[in-house]
Amino acid sequence: MSVGANELKRFITCVQKNSTYNFSEYSENSLIRRIEKILIDNTCTFDILLERIRNDSDYLHSIVKQITVNTTELFRDPKFWQDFRHDIIPELQKKESITIWHAGCSTGQEVYSMLILLHELKLLERATVFASDINEDVIEIAQKGEYPYRFYDDYKEAFKQVIKFNPYGKPFKHTPFEKYFEVNAKKSILQTASFLKNKVQFFTHDLIALSPFTDQKFDIIFCRNVLIYFKADYQKKIYECFYHSLNPESYLVLGMQESMGWFMNSLFQKKNSVYCKWEI
Ligand SMILES: C[S@@+](CC[C@H](N)C(=O)[O-])C[C@H]1O[C@@H](n2cnc3c(N)ncnc32)[C@H](O)[C@@H]1O
Repeated sequence: MSVGANELKRFITCVQKNSTYNFSEYSENSLIRRIEKILIDNTCTFDILLERIRNDSDYLHSIVKQITVNTTELFRDPKFWQDFRHDIIPELQKKESITIWHAGCSTGQEVYSMLILLHELKLLERATVFASDINEDVIEIAQKGEYPYRFYDDYKEAFKQVIKFNPYGKPFKHTPFEKYFEVNAKKSILQTASFLKNKVQFFTHDLIALSPFTDQKFDIIFCRNVLIYFKADYQKKIYECFYHSLNPESYLVLGMQESMGWFMNSLFQKKNSVYCKWEI
């Protein structure tokens, strides 16, 4: 079944009436595609979907999880991490403390990528790290730091590109992947090292409510591949919120395919996928 503007409105209202979730600021096209996929995957009609959402809160939660896309990887887009290491890490080395927030962290691989980089460059002890996501299931996986063994080759290759043979920085040729992940072929998992996991405060948070922090300021906010699902007006609101949550001379990181648009030029200066806060 194809979902039109009327169904979309009914879906958003139904979810809003029966939970704290509000999808009215999500981009219409991507939301429509997700609802159509849910109808196929759940083999149901639109009216049955709404009826189940109204009557079964567990089902509603499972639908919310199907709406949010959780794709992520260790050192996703290695070129980004190579540039980040070359352009931004030297600036971080000048700071006595580094406070980081990963907003929309999914199952945690982005967080652990950053921690590995900081550890190799002897900056981990200076770091305080928060990571949040709307979806409580992915936060649980991130906290456990257990990933399917089938990702081993891909993760090892990305690790090699960013850590072992980085073209712009000092390579760490002898750093083994196993320093950070215990490879348990029997259980078919890659287990993240405890000293990395213990470094992060994970929590659930919906960016619709803007920042969960009142006084905390950050040196870096990662929000990669999250805001593409939001309408442009709301993206702007979140960018402004991030701006006010950043320390002077600090950074907002977006996904490789994302861009803030000219309206934010007065607040941020762009270098690759990293936006540096202007001081006004
Ligand atoms: C595609 S993943 C990106 C993960 C990671 N940042 C990366 O780039 O690899 C998008 C994440 O944003 C989260 N998300 C979607 N809507 C959100 C919202 N309103 N508040 C917080 N997180 C949200 C999803 O649950 C999902 O885990």
